[in-house]
Amino acid sequence: MPRTRTTARAPARVTIIGDHTDYNEGLSLPMAIDLATEATFTPEPGSFLIGLHSDQFPEPWEIPLGDTAPPSPTALLAAGLIRLANAASGGTVHVTSTIPLGAGLSSSAAFSVALSMALGVTMDPIAMARHCQRAEALAGAHVGLLDPLTIVAARAGHALLIDFAALEMRHVPLPDDAAFVVVHSEAARQLKSSPYATRRAECEMAAHQLGRPLGHCEPGDLSALREPVLRRRARHVITECARVREVESLLARGNLAGVGKVMTEGHRSLAADYKVSIPVVDSLVEDLLGLPGVLGARMTGGGFGGCVIALCQPGSPALDPATHAPRRAWRVSPAAGATMIAT
Ligand code: GLA
Repeated sequence: MPRTRTTARAPARVTIIGDHTDYNEGLSLPMAIDLATEATFTPEPGSFLIGLHSDQFPEPWEIPLGDTAPPSPTALLAAGLIRLANAASGGTVHVTSTIPLGAGLSSSAAFSVALSMALGVTMDPIAMARHCQRAEALAGAHVGLLDPLTIVAARAGHALLIDFAALEMRHVPLPDDAAFVVVHSEAARQLKSSPYATRRAECEMAAHQLGRPLGHCEPGDLSALREPVLRRRARHVITECARVREVESLLARGNLAGVGKVMTEGHRSLAADYKVSIPVVDSLVEDLLGLPGVLGARMTGGGFGGCVIALCQPGSPALDPATHAPRRAWRVSPAAGATMIAT
């Protein structure tokens, strides 16, 4: 528990390829980007309340230390994180963020990591990711490890190859001419109220029938699944893991046109087989693919709205956020993971 004022900064993440693979013991290739959440904790010895002010919520929250329920349902995640941090005294937390909420860019994992670090929680990346996952579960969102793990372990200039079966990670260098833009569909989502939990349950059923997690299965296993819906969900997970391997090897050969093509295939699989896209996002992907110099485009994160990431050639007009107005857009580059910062 820090005695003085501490500030932590946690970046957003986008998935280059490999969505809905984390809770299936599969593979993913995300990166951290230069949007971020910062949390500053000022302790007040003798106080048993944490007052949390965020520039993304109109009202501050007052969260009592210990097991009492938080005053507002929106404060559930913060309350879980504060409880798990074992804060010895209360104080004040100020949060500022450039990450849009509910946009598939891991705003809640960035909040979780920044708040935990500001409250003095120090752990290795896997333990920290599990810690944040536990707080999400206490708040009713049963998410995987993709978001917090990327946010903690990312390295500037690199994507992060994560094997969720072995819980192993490798930094994959991204070529300088890999230019990315993130465009918001302006359709917001919430994982708790989306069919995210249904997808998890469908994957568990398919894995049960196949006798092992979908991330360990091969395309040849699919014929053993009788129900068409389960077969389609499993096909997404199995082909998405293969796409992660393919993108890794295309990157090693500097074949960005190939990477873009596989990213777009990933989107089509998320839309058709996994059914986690929505029409607004699908048409945004198609609009982006119609712009000169766009090599590939796909939704990122849980789905049901949120952002699209496009890989572009350096001179592409798609890289200029103004091209996408009135939609919000950001030219992004691969950023470093979460850090404490001097204030
Ligand atoms: C959300 C979840 C992650 C992961 C992605 C989809 O962001 O928090 O655990 O399942 O969706 O890849």
